[in-house]
Amino acid sequence: MKNHEIDAAWNYHNGTKHPNGVLLNRFHTYNSANRPIPYKNYKNADQIKIALDKQIGSVSALDAISDSTRYAGLGLVDINILARVLYFSCGITKILKFPPPLNEVEFRAASCTGALYHIETYLVCGNISGIEAGVYHFDPKSLSLTTLRKGDYRKVLVDATANESFVASAPVSLIFTDMFSRNSVKYQAREYRHAFWDCGTILANSLAMANAQKIPYRLILGFVDFKINLLLGLDTKKEAALAILSLDHINQTLLDSPSLHNAFELEQTENDIYFEAIDKMHESSSLTSNQEVLIWRKNIVHDISQPSSNHIKLENNINSDDKLEQVILRRGSTRKFSHEAISFGQMSTILNRSAGGYIADFEENNIINDIYIIANAVDGLEKGSYFYNKKYDSLELLQNGDLRDMSGHLGLDQNLPYDAAVTIFFMSDLQKILKCFGNRGYRVAQMDAAIAAGKMYLVAYALQIGATGLTFYDDEVTEFFSPHASNKNTMFMLAVGKKVKRVVP
Ligand SMILES: Cc1cc2nc3c(=O)[nH]c(=O)nc-3n(C[C@H](O)[C@H](O)[C@H](O)COP(=O)(O)O)c2cc1C
Repeated sequence: MKNHEIDAAWNYHNGTKHPNGVLLNRFHTYNSANRPIPYKNYKNADQIKIALDKQIGSVSALDAISDSTRYAGLGLVDINILARVLYFSCGITKILKFPPPLNEVEFRAASCTGALYHIETYLVCGNISGIEAGVYHFDPKSLSLTTLRKGDYRKVLVDATANESFVASAPVSLIFTDMFSRNSVKYQAREYRHAFWDCGTILANSLAMANAQKIPYRLILGFVDFKINLLLGLDTKKEAALAILSLDHINQTLLDSPSLHNAFELEQTENDIYFEAIDKMHESSSLTSNQEVLIWRKNIVHDISQPSSNHIKLENNINSDDKLEQVILRRGSTRKFSHEAISFGQMSTILNRSAGGYIADFEENNIINDIYIIANAVDGLEKGSYFYNKKYDSLELLQNGDLRDMSGHLGLDQNLPYDAAVTIFFMSDLQKILKCFGNRGYRVAQMDAAIAAGKMYLVAYALQIGATGLTFYDDEVTEFFSPHASNKNTMFMLAVGKKVKRVVP
């Protein structure tokens, strides 16, 4: 991939826009009777049951979510901590009953488009307390680790990330992959956006869980794709690695990894649905050598405009003592919002607590996406549309007035964005990001928005209000927030508000 080659990202992005993206078939339908099994099963591999301590920790959700401290790392990570990070990021947290054909759905810790759960999680570790060095797949259904390879394969990760220093010192790394067809069965080629959305919401939980245990982490999006996919034994037409999350730090000299021969076989549960547009986009945003990784890993400079004269300072944060695990267990996408207002303090807390960034290989200030807002019902804030200036922690009024109809319309004319107190849009200057990062910048822009939105989900639930991710009419969002957003593309949409309380008959 050469940095100046960005046509693929534009073709994909423009082609998967609602409502008229040429890569989407408007007549496509999805029957939930055909919902793919959301679990990967290996035929001939050992499974290690992990004991899960579901105890609620002592760190408040708000602190864990917003923390961007660089902890030193004491090599404390063990199987108990890992089990908690895995469970509270991608474990099954509730089971709900539905009429046939769905019957029963196992919902997970983080939100996922269509509850299709196409993100799989793997673990690559050295010998740590409670688990031997190896490559494992996490099975949320049986709460176990499937052994894919025995031995220390971390050198493969170091090699695939061009000797990334954090990866080299981490006793363990999680790798998140995307099973394309599990989600494209419903969303067609737009699935490749969902891959990052649904991985980002999981990561928001994982980063908060790491912070809560004071374990340092670094998120890595720059790696030689085929090396990681080979390590995990993936059929790359169906599944591919999206992100590496390295955890903890120890002084170590890694030995060469054992050779890579694939000894594991899969139970065939996936369908054969294939979208060339996904394949192409993934391929053209793949890095093929260490040199490409090194070139890619550079910081983006992004100017944040001075606040305009009519800027409104956010209110002080509201506190909540609810612990992170409690909030993760409470979270679930709101299915109906009342028109009731949230307070300006609540809205300020959602923005402020989620905007502080995270530690990643591509940049450390988290300014890839800008945030635009429609305030439908916020006590203490005039109705209207706003730009959130992160640096000055303030809002700039773009248009005042009742914009509820527009809020509903931009969110694909659904009731949720119409009824919500606030709708929040993550927008990227894609031209600039692709220029800096090449086609792989597209992955960065989507993932960055989703991590911040995942954090907002959690902050909202810590404050006892509701939230849901939404899909949107891409260009209409840009038009609506223009001229301010005229050079920006929409990456993610979130609605926040009070839930309609269930009426008990
Ligand atoms: C990025 C994203 C977009 C979503 N878009 C919609 C949407 O347009 N309409 C909707 O009703 N729900 C939407 N959802 C909510 C999902 O359907 C929900 O997350 C999923 O059913 C899992 O349920 P849970 O979040 O309660 O765990 C979206 C979720 C995410 C993460």
